[in-house]
Amino acid sequence: MGSPRTNGTSAKLLASALKGAAHQGAETKRYDLIKYTIRYCRGCFKCVYENHELPIGICRIKDDMASILGEYHQADGYILACPVYDRAVTALMKTFLERKIALFYKQREDFGRIPDARVKADFKKKAALIATGGAVDEYREIMADPCFELMEAHFILEQVEVIDRLYVGGVDNLSKERLSEKREDAFTIGVRLVNEIEKARQL
Ligand SMILES: Cc1cc2nc3c(=O)[nH]c(=O)nc-3n(C[C@H](O)[C@H](O)[C@H](O)COP(=O)(O)O)c2cc1C
Repeated sequence: MGSPRTNGTSAKLLASALKGAAHQGAETKRYDLIKYTIRYCRGCFKCVYENHELPIGICRIKDDMASILGEYHQADGYILACPVYDRAVTALMKTFLERKIALFYKQREDFGRIPDARVKADFKKKAALIATGGAVDEYREIMADPCFELMEAHFILEQVEVIDRLYVGGVDNLSKERLSEKREDAFTIGVRLVNEIEKARQL
């Protein structure tokens, strides 16, 4: 959850989506990124170039990211929820996404190549994305789509399929009824996420 507000709209929608997943029997864990120490990536590439045999590269920065990635790696599905800040994800979410670079590897001489995921999920893992914004739903394309793209970028390389993208706009004037409608949509997304993961595993 990439909002600094741990009880804001993104948080509420995420809570509903997690409830949906739990309803289908999933064990869920929520990370409010604001509560963790996640420092900026320093761009040294050590995590990418070294220890290719490990599922997660070793980052020189000693903060909460190593333990978050440890659990991230073990999860079967992901839900990223984030408000739109300046037509992008929050700096908090972006910092987290950048630090996920430890999940990738590349040979030093592979100039210009996009890194590979250390462990590819082979589309057995699924993800859902939630974005919230002040701009009403009609602005989804210019407000939410850039956020979805940012949140999805790594999933493409990790071979994690994004199955839903929920945008809830107009949050500064959201009626109780509309919020509960959207929370139901989020619940359904959580349900679907688990169902889709189970389906993919049966293939
Ligand atoms: C610094 C900042 C930048 C924002 N930029 C946008 C924006 O570009 N587009 C938009 O629709 N809403 C924007 N908003 C409004 C937030 O998206 C909105 O308040 C958010 O959805 C609230 O989510 P939360 O309750 O989960 O924190 C911005 C808010 C802040 C604080």
